[in-house]
Amino acid sequence: TWTAGNVIAEQVAAIREQVGDARVICGLSGGVDSSVAAALVQKAVGDQLTCVFVDHGLLRAGEAEQVEQDFVAATGVNLKVVDATEQFLSALAGVTDPETKRKIIGREFIRTFEAAAREIVEEAGQDEEVRFLVQGTLYPDVVESGGGEGAANIKSHHNVGGLPDDLQFELVEPLRTLFKDEVRAVGLELGVPEGIVWRQPFPGPGLGIRIVGAVDAERLAVLRAADAIAREELTAAGLDRDIWQCPVVLLADVRSVGVQGDGRTYGHPIVLRPVSSEDAMTADWSRLPYDVLARISSRITNEVPEVNRVVLDVTSKPPGTIEWE
Ligand code: XMP
Repeated sequence: TWTAGNVIAEQVAAIREQVGDARVICGLSGGVDSSVAAALVQKAVGDQLTCVFVDHGLLRAGEAEQVEQDFVAATGVNLKVVDATEQFLSALAGVTDPETKRKIIGREFIRTFEAAAREIVEEAGQDEEVRFLVQGTLYPDVVESGGGEGAANIKSHHNVGGLPDDLQFELVEPLRTLFKDEVRAVGLELGVPEGIVWRQPFPGPGLGIRIVGAVDAERLAVLRAADAIAREELTAAGLDRDIWQCPVVLLADVRSVGVQGDGRTYGHPIVLRPVSSEDAMTADWSRLPYDVLARISSRITNEVPEVNRVVLDVTSKPPGTIEWE
């Protein structure tokens, strides 16, 4: 029978067997998957683990701070924070194709982990290399990246289909057979803080795949501001546990005419994509209360000058995917 306790016992044994007494790093995003993967590996091999948090400049407002506060405070895990914003944004400059963006982000993550691994070894004064990289890959990530049996490549998740061919690490992926609800159960059993366990999913490639068009610092700032407003209002309305996640998307290459005060505007649309789901393999659009939608819309158009229109995505999955890219 499936219990979180059994999964933990099995995975802890498997991780010890795979890793031995080698050094391990874990890419930590602050989300459910990587946090639970890190907690499992910490339980298995303790201080052999160092978590690496990569700020790729594609994060939402306040996220970097949250990881340090919530996860590290709860687990006492070794954490290395890397600011790789310039590296990611220059690698993404001018790129509009979604799969190309995903592959670039996947590759830059690995390059950043490689550099962090070298520094960790140097700082520890050891000459032994870091051989293992822990990732919080879930079963649906594998399936959608074309790794499952008979599955088509729908999109290359950054941690599966987006990995470079010359990967130096051996992967440790203790959640690879699990769905999100199972990961949450394992996390609760391991004592991962509820604030992390119940966080809504946020993709590793971050806001980079929520700007339709090329990604740059100005566009990211616009999207970050709109996203923060949407999240604030959804939380204030008590809807966080009712919706699975709500991507906020900037249509950066689309402009439309508006009016504000006495003047004409020519701004960008923001798309709200609230969905309900069990496992992200299928989803339905969430019927949010109109007054909440109205507040989000009027606040975004008032507070974010580059945005003059807010639209609601009413497509289920299939035929739409949850993210736009
Ligand atoms: P889609 O857009 O395929 O998304 O319907 C399904 C779920 O996966 C998340 N997602 C990702 N998560 N790396 C991740 O860690 C990725 O590359 C990635 N792409 C999509 C998405 O937010 C949704 O929860």
